[in-house]
Amino acid sequence: MAGTQQPEVNIGLVGHVDHGKTTLVQALSGSWTDQHSEEMKRGISIRLGYADATFRHCPDLDEPERYTVEQECADGSPSEPLRTVSFVDAPGHETLMATMLSGASLMDGAVLVVSANEPVPQPQTEEHLMALDIIGIDNIVIAQNKVDLVDAEQARRNYEEIQEFVSGTVAEDAPVVPVSAGQEVNLDLLIQAIEEEIPTPERDPETDPRMHVARSFDINKPGTTAENLAGGVLGGSLIRGELEVGDDLEIRPGREVEEGGQTEYVPIQTTVRSLQAGGADAERVTPGGLLGVGTGLDPSLTKGDALAGQIAGPPGSLPPIWEQFTMDVDLLDRVVGNVEDASQEGDAAAVDEISTGEPLMMTVGTATTVGAVTSARSGECEVKLKRPVSAEPGSKIAINRRIGARWRLIGLGTLRE
Ligand code: GTP
Repeated sequence: MAGTQQPEVNIGLVGHVDHGKTTLVQALSGSWTDQHSEEMKRGISIRLGYADATFRHCPDLDEPERYTVEQECADGSPSEPLRTVSFVDAPGHETLMATMLSGASLMDGAVLVVSANEPVPQPQTEEHLMALDIIGIDNIVIAQNKVDLVDAEQARRNYEEIQEFVSGTVAEDAPVVPVSAGQEVNLDLLIQAIEEEIPTPERDPETDPRMHVARSFDINKPGTTAENLAGGVLGGSLIRGELEVGDDLEIRPGREVEEGGQTEYVPIQTTVRSLQAGGADAERVTPGGLLGVGTGLDPSLTKGDALAGQIAGPPGSLPPIWEQFTMDVDLLDRVVGNVEDASQEGDAAAVDEISTGEPLMMTVGTATTVGAVTSARSGECEVKLKRPVSAEPGSKIAINRRIGARWRLIGLGTLRE
């Protein structure tokens, strides 16, 4: 594709199931993020999909017409690239909050997609906004989608409902842009809002690179002979620094090793053999977008997302590995989203204090791990993890509790020293 460059910023697409996130990404990028065959079957984004879009402008035209993703402007003149962004299409299905939360750690900003033809908020509209709030993503644009399905009066009422819903939240000042992803209406206004609200973060190229691994693969076809095997591949995003072919890499917490009935995790060492960014091979990559990192690892170590949730960077530079930790806890007042299936008595939506012995699901960076609470006091608790995580003290942790049949977001944790 002409003018392709590595994306410089990751923008989450969040919102309720079927509100049009995937359609919007497709309209902005010309690609369809639902590529996983199982996703096709189920019709929902079950893995984080990434798609890159190059925003362009037409200096001779007025705003908002000057913004486009087309090579040609409305007046026939060639458009000029502004920047390439990477959309992380988070699943809206309610059982997939963990996937949304792990994607959120890679987002520099977010577009919250809200359908104009349904009452506001729908369960995951609320849950996703809460997740953005918890993780601290405050560069937000709201896309009021499917305006082609409503009349002007309905659109205005829905707009007011959105305003009321976001009041007092992290999205309070977010612009609400009426669009139709399906009919490609007002995409220029949306691009303008994204350009204004979600700037590319300042990056320090000198700092040690750090990658959050969101996926890992074995790219070899079954039956490939040993001498032709390609090394394991990591997929994810650099959150800082730069990575180059030939760099040494450590991956933490690493692989599980069993010895005398005990399991422990041992960090993995390898080298960067190849890099892919923005769909092209690269010698050097910077933060933004989805990276593919070819390594010298035995592909059996990386197959089937085995290393998803881990952290990679120069040996010796990575944060500690925690098998148990203490976190400061800030609980939500009530469970957001759909609580029909909550089995609690009384106010089904109230969040009870965390109690010793209860299992919690926690998202730390891109890692999702289950742990048992070994000690709980007001405002803090200690958990022993089933699978360890590598994380900096002070990291934010999304805390989920099992309520009824599902894990529900109940609060924010902060990892203690
Ligand atoms: P998940 O990934 O499953 O959470 O859904 P999603 O939010 O990505 O929704 P998706 O883009 O798959 O769209 C859901 C349905 O709404 C599809 O049938 C789309 O064709 C339709 N749709 C999306 N945008 C518009 C729009 O602007 N107008 C109309 N009329 N339909 C739309």
